[in-house]
Amino acid sequence: MIDEIRRIEDDARGRVAAVDTVAELVELDRELLGKRSALTGTKRQMGALSEDERRELGAALNAAQESIRGFLAARRAELEAVEREVQLGAERLDLTEVRADRDAGHLHLITQVVEELEDVFVGLGFTVAEGPEVEDDWHNFTGLNFGTYHPARDMQDTFFVDLGAPREVVLRTHTSPVQMRVMEGQAPPIYSVVPGRVYRNEAADATHLAVFHQIECLVVDHGITFGHLAGTIDRFTKAFFGPGYSMRLRPAYFPFTEPSAEFDVQRPDGTWLELGGCGMVHPNVLRNGGIDPEEWSGFAFGFGLDRLAATRHGVTDLRELASTDVRFLSQF
Ligand code: PHE
Repeated sequence: MIDEIRRIEDDARGRVAAVDTVAELVELDRELLGKRSALTGTKRQMGALSEDERRELGAALNAAQESIRGFLAARRAELEAVEREVQLGAERLDLTEVRADRDAGHLHLITQVVEELEDVFVGLGFTVAEGPEVEDDWHNFTGLNFGTYHPARDMQDTFFVDLGAPREVVLRTHTSPVQMRVMEGQAPPIYSVVPGRVYRNEAADATHLAVFHQIECLVVDHGITFGHLAGTIDRFTKAFFGPGYSMRLRPAYFPFTEPSAEFDVQRPDGTWLELGGCGMVHPNVLRNGGIDPEEWSGFAFGFGLDRLAATRHGVTDLRELASTDVRFLSQF
């Protein structure tokens, strides 16, 4: 019987080695060690033996069982390693496709313009600030001196967000709400520029977009005058466009500045580009921002970046700025 056990063990070693998937190995495990196995069969015959023989046979059986378990475990580890290799091979990504000499792209035209303007203003001593694109009515309108029924609200067709009380939450229609946020957050002197995305509910055409970009400038300090405003706009125009360009101011109206103006930039060919609005910060706005208008004064201006970028690069349709066409984008 001992010989029989050895034979079973040898046979098991050969069969385990011949298996080549984990699934088959699980099957074989059951066959070699389960209730119907040859080993279990020999165990059943032990009843007819003497006690000594039984002890000897029991020890041999246990040893055989142990070594078969060992064969199974070792083969399982081998097969699992192989299967993992195969899986890794199948999931492998060929990163050599991402070649270093391919064109990796570059910043979008608008982003380039934002960064360049930030540099100009930082060079003039300004700090860059940001605010949320989803705004509340207070920051976008009411705090900026737009009365509840003020017709100027209609100058900026508004996207309302379905959140809270009706008409309470908006997609900001300009970067001016960040004026309020800057004043809330810090005491004067303030020299801030705020680039950002803004939204207006209007149909896009060659000279208008529903989603566009502005840059806002806010200065609050002792003794700030309209002269500082005009000088700052002139400086940035020349720094950004170059010496052939100049600017002019035209009287205008905004609820949050008084007096107010619109400013245009003149191209070297003599034509004018309407760029933005500006003015002295209205005393109500300073007060809403927690600043005493008897002590401090300030100016603000804001203008569209899309038109500015388009003018400088000879883009005639603003909608192209939202294009994903690489043939367009790669020109800049
Ligand atoms: N927020 C105004 C607009 O979008 C522009 C502006 C900014 C005017 C700051 C005055 C002062 O039209």
